[in-house]
Amino acid sequence: MALPERFSNLPEYAFPRLRKLLDAHAPGGEPIAMTIGEPRHAMPDFVGPILAANLSGFAVYPPNDGTPELLSAISAWIARRYAVALPEDRLMVLNGTREGLFNAAIALCPEAKSGQRPVILMPNPFYQVYAVAALTVGAEPVYVPATAATGHLPDYGSLPKDILDRVALAYICSPANPQGAVASADYLSDLLALSEKHDFKVLADECYSESWRNAPPPGLLQVAAAQGADPERAVVFHSLSKRSNLPGLRSGFVAAGPESMLRLRQLRAFAGAPLPLPLQKVAQACWQDEAHVTSSRALYQAKFMQADRIFESLQGFQAPQGGFFLWLPVDDGEAATLKLWHETGVRVLPGAYLSRDAGGQNPGKGYIRVALVAPAEETQRGLTQLRDCLYG
Ligand SMILES: Cc1ncc(COP(=O)(O)O)c(C=O)c1O
Repeated sequence: MALPERFSNLPEYAFPRLRKLLDAHAPGGEPIAMTIGEPRHAMPDFVGPILAANLSGFAVYPPNDGTPELLSAISAWIARRYAVALPEDRLMVLNGTREGLFNAAIALCPEAKSGQRPVILMPNPFYQVYAVAALTVGAEPVYVPATAATGHLPDYGSLPKDILDRVALAYICSPANPQGAVASADYLSDLLALSEKHDFKVLADECYSESWRNAPPPGLLQVAAAQGADPERAVVFHSLSKRSNLPGLRSGFVAAGPESMLRLRQLRAFAGAPLPLPLQKVAQACWQDEAHVTSSRALYQAKFMQADRIFESLQGFQAPQGGFFLWLPVDDGEAATLKLWHETGVRVLPGAYLSRDAGGQNPGKGYIRVALVAPAEETQRGLTQLRDCLYG
């Protein structure tokens, strides 16, 4: 039977690919997992009681866009975090940002742009859902290098005009997975100006916004409000997965301009899987509480300092400004990952599993990604073994 051609160029997903690379080889020591971006700090202690008190909510279909109380808690969080007043009808609840980032392309990407096939821009390396979203809607994904030379963020403004005129959507991730770079307010402001000039929307994946090193990263909503940008230019995604250590809750939100929001809500009404009501209650409490976020952030900040100490003699090493990954240069990411596993049992991800060949270059090939999610003692052991094995 025929299968869709549109995904024929899609590589195998990063984690099955990693299992194929490593699982035929015995670990060289006690395994330490530093692969997946799954937070392992404690979830807030109110999760269980709130869930238990709201079990009857499983008996009803939940509201698609979010309960009024949850949307109001999110709106209040945005006001505290970004000093932006955003009414509830500019917000919609998501089952985590991954589905939102995917479905936004379906809801918002036109069939044609300037009479031609639309382009969706994304950084390279990147969170992989951006590419499959582009392929799904028949847009051309354009992978824009986000390397040391560009401050680990894509320089969309440097693209040729004929490409920029075809851009319908541009994904941006700040703090960036995998590099940990943070887009400055100036960077975001320039990007909004570019989107206005070439008539596209910016899809800002800000799911690591609360894990930062020195200062809270600026958000696109804040920058758009400050410069009086057209609200339709900015579509912004946040998640409780990283902020509240609840990747299994599957809860986030999208904020957008009124027209975009109508499209997003319409698609969700037809095809979305709304978040169960008891989970919306938990999410509401999470957005209302900052104490658990502050203590989790302090643990990440301690790990950034740990990484600084362990890698101080590694030339050019920089612990990230945000997020919770190290993006470490090596000769060849796959070879380094295999050697590290084989000799120590430390498990990391080859950078090329998060990037694409573009223009004859693969910007992830000479890197490994290391997740700082384990407790401090395990992180210390993992990073020390990694340093001694790969840079000793
Ligand atoms: C950059 C980035 N965006 C989005 C997600 C999806 O997160 P969730 O769907 O759990 O909100 C992740 C998860 O690892 C991520 O790293």
